[in-house]
Amino acid sequence: MDKKNIAVVTGASSGIGKEFLKLLLKEQELDELWAIGQSEDRLKEVKEFDKARVRIFAMDLTERKNLDIIEALIVSESVNVKWLVNCAGYAKFCDFAGIDRYTSINMIDLNISALVAMGLICLPYMQKGGHIINMASQASFQPLPYQNIYSSTKAFVRNYTRALNVELKGRGVVATAVCPGWMQTRLIERAIVKGEKGTRVFPHIVYPDVVAKKAIKDAKKSKDISIYGLYTKLSHIVAKMLPQRCMMGIWLRQQRLKNTPKINN
Ligand SMILES: NC(=O)c1ccc[n+]([C@@H]2O[C@H](COP(=O)([O-])OP(=O)(O)OC[C@H]3O[C@@H](n4cnc5c(N)ncnc54)[C@H](OP(=O)(O)O)[C@@H]3O)[C@@H](O)[C@H]2O)c1
Repeated sequence: MDKKNIAVVTGASSGIGKEFLKLLLKEQELDELWAIGQSEDRLKEVKEFDKARVRIFAMDLTERKNLDIIEALIVSESVNVKWLVNCAGYAKFCDFAGIDRYTSINMIDLNISALVAMGLICLPYMQKGGHIINMASQASFQPLPYQNIYSSTKAFVRNYTRALNVELKGRGVVATAVCPGWMQTRLIERAIVKGEKGTRVFPHIVYPDVVAKKAIKDAKKSKDISIYGLYTKLSHIVAKMLPQRCMMGIWLRQQRLKNTPKINN
């Protein structure tokens, strides 16, 4: 029996994950698209895009038993994973004391551990021509005070994905880290925590559809990193040239954070 070609998209119930799913539906070779998210209601809306090809999985990916469920399905059904798109993620914009320990660690569990686990689950079922797209962020370019964990998770994703891409060269599978600036999605409203210290300014914000479109184009060109828009591209270059303490100072001024501490070596 021929294997079915599938795409697995995490965070598909909202934001850029939903946009990736819409774009991948145009890939006729895909027999099924597996949409993973938390909200069953939002996933049911996604299922409406193509009832025959979209399968939905409402689950919390920070729970390891749910990763085991996905793995068991992939193992039991004869599949070729053509695309794995890891979009599930969240942020909290506040100082280190503004969120509880559980939330801090849970952000790492989702943004890093679940993303790595999904790749390790899918890779044995990926062949030449397969793609892994991992959502990093412009936040990966430098340390960001008052979103210290979120920006660090994104730095992990960027470095991890680029290193993985090198390891996958012999297999013909491409891994691409997507590093957008601000996008108009639910992430921002979910991230804002009441309090004085937080991210309040969102310059050059874009809609996620254009970012997803460029990411798929870049992935098909075998690029290991995808950056949409001039502002974010310039930030990438500047972050390579300036010391990180200068970059953090620029960030604090841009965010108009009160009582900004002086940054010393
Ligand atoms: N928005 C930005 O400015 C921005 C910029 C750069 C990078 N990013 C990255 O882009 C990715 C997608 O975010 P977005 O902006 O599209 O935000 P979003 O609209 O909030 O989407 C986040 C997705 O992750 C899912 N999710 C959250 N917690 C989950 C969990 N525990 N288990 C399973 N799924 C979970 C959400 O599911 P439910 O909706 O069902 O809860 C949703 O589908 C994230 O990795 C984010 O860090 C965003």
